[in-house]
Amino acid sequence: MNDTRIHPLVLFMPSGKRGRFPVGTPVLDAARQLGVYVESVCGGRATCGRCQVSVQEGNFAKHGITSSDDHLSAIGPKEERYDRVRGLPEGRRLSCSALIQGDLVIDVPQDTVINAQVVRKAADERVFDRNAAIRMCYVEVEEPDMEKPLGDLDRLKAALTADWHFDELDVDFHLIPRVQSILRKGEWKVTAAIHKDGEDDRPCLIALYPGLKNEAYGIACDIGSTTIAMHLSSLLSGRTVASAGTSNPQIRFGEDLMSRVSYVMMNPDGREAMTAAVREALNGLIDQVCIKGGVSRTDILDSVFVGNPIMHHLFLGIDPTELGGAPFALAVSGAVKVKSSEIGLSMNEGTRTYVLPCIAGHVGADAAAATLSEGPHRQDEMMLLVDIGTNAEIVLGNRTRVLAASSPTGPAFEGAEISSGQRAAPGAIERVRIDPVTLEPRFRVIGVEPWSNEPGFAEAAAATGVTGICGSGIIEVIAEMYLAGIISEDGVVDGTLAGRSPRILPNGRTFSYLLHDGEPLITVTQNDVRAIQLAKAALYAGVKLLMDKQGVTEVDRIGLAGAFGTFIDPKYAMVLGLIPDCDLSKVKAVGNAAGTGARMCLLNRGYRREIEETVRRIDKIETALEPRFQEHFVAAMALPNKIDPFPNLSAVVTLPERKVLADAAGEGGARRRRRSRD
Ligand code: FES
Repeated sequence: MNDTRIHPLVLFMPSGKRGRFPVGTPVLDAARQLGVYVESVCGGRATCGRCQVSVQEGNFAKHGITSSDDHLSAIGPKEERYDRVRGLPEGRRLSCSALIQGDLVIDVPQDTVINAQVVRKAADERVFDRNAAIRMCYVEVEEPDMEKPLGDLDRLKAALTADWHFDELDVDFHLIPRVQSILRKGEWKVTAAIHKDGEDDRPCLIALYPGLKNEAYGIACDIGSTTIAMHLSSLLSGRTVASAGTSNPQIRFGEDLMSRVSYVMMNPDGREAMTAAVREALNGLIDQVCIKGGVSRTDILDSVFVGNPIMHHLFLGIDPTELGGAPFALAVSGAVKVKSSEIGLSMNEGTRTYVLPCIAGHVGADAAAATLSEGPHRQDEMMLLVDIGTNAEIVLGNRTRVLAASSPTGPAFEGAEISSGQRAAPGAIERVRIDPVTLEPRFRVIGVEPWSNEPGFAEAAAATGVTGICGSGIIEVIAEMYLAGIISEDGVVDGTLAGRSPRILPNGRTFSYLLHDGEPLITVTQNDVRAIQLAKAALYAGVKLLMDKQGVTEVDRIGLAGAFGTFIDPKYAMVLGLIPDCDLSKVKAVGNAAGTGARMCLLNRGYRREIEETVRRIDKIETALEPRFQEHFVAAMALPNKIDPFPNLSAVVTLPERKVLADAAGEGGARRRRRSRD
């Protein structure tokens, strides 16, 4: 018999890994040997159902495989029993019981859900390869024997070594007083939760359950300075079973990051108070996700947290004072691993916490997580990733080199410093269009379906009112004012238009644009335009510095992270010159990329190593120290930019003729001369 007959070829999908195995090899063993991740809790006893796979039938000429259900052994008594008791979905087999008999293409489903559980379907939910830091390992332990005076715990360890190959096993001390009762309760059958993060870490027994415990959970959490978002996921199936969010209670100590650092500096118990506040909020969120998901908090065995450097420090109980001024020294930049109970989080006593590394004193674990999620370091294209808050975190790179910086944009994009600005909430104007001929606006308000010029608007808006302009509305109204010729490239509101439109109102020595003639009156003032120009120029200058360092004049792809990035229209962001020119189809909101990165690290410890390695390689640029920052900043004050061309944008939007207004003549003249050399 030739080798290919006795050693059939098995291809695993979606990984594409393949190998030849002797006839009679369990599919689970074949997967293990190839490094294909297939879950198993019962250790091949056909009781946990975690190891399900299915066969792709057909002739796969490319791979030289004709795959058929018949190339697996027939369903045996153990598998039949599992199907009868628990039910196997159509076409599924237990890979621990199914033996290889011929060539096969095996599908490893990413979503093996065993217990009926509430599953939250999030639109942005991605499926990741799993390799969690927690393994659930069922064992049957030898009963005590007068002849062999080995302790119960030692016999448990021996069983774990025999069945699961854990030779050097540490044991969390809190378990030792409980081992005997758990073993007896389970009649010597128990499930051990083993934590092992790094390859060189010693595995550690962190929780023990009587009988077969066929589920374990973890939480992934993004601690933002304004809001905290938490996801509860099954570590075994990878599914997110519940999510919850809350505002960060530290807001009562200070709206923005620097005011929270000041609070710590001014108040002897300030750090303790803010640490306690955030941990209390986290415990509240743990309660919420557990209730929503129908999960006991003691079944949460792992947790991953991300946040900007100041949130990161306060969460871990570290004084953030050093982050308040140059050289912005982090207490710790590498990843932090700690027992959750040591940082005041109440889950299982053995639960572990992993905190992603910070990139720099201004660029935190949240930016690291967003980088992991969007993967500039995994692609050839030059990708720009920006998370816009009061401090914009900027990452630019590709697989060759990644750079990071932050830029002090201030709170203008969040509605602060804007006369009619407000947070995104019902009643806030979020979309704006201005007719370039009549200069009449139409707008959309959060919570109201029709546009302001459509029938039914007044009735629909009666409940919320029209209360102000939120961040995305500010971007659009100023960009539209520019496109309609109401403001010049230099951001000056054109007072000469007052004769043409009652929307242009004198306001001291400058002019304003009347967006909504109601109660309250909503106008865009010259100062508002200036505040946005300053904020966008700071962001763009930071981006340009990174482009200089990379030696590129354009980027291939842009990801806009965070809440602000989700709601702004990329086209208007580009008209304002907030982001550099790029093919608009390659500018995308990437949602809560930081939260996604945290979830990746929860479900697969390989991602922890990937981001630790990537952060070590990222070049950190301190914008304040770069002489060209100011030059880029001045150029970026113009709309969209005094120097840089926007060819991709110009192809889809007609940018206005250059307009030089009286109070900006000097600056405009200088710009004209410079542009004429381009
Ligand atoms: S490994 Fe548990 S059923 Fe197959």
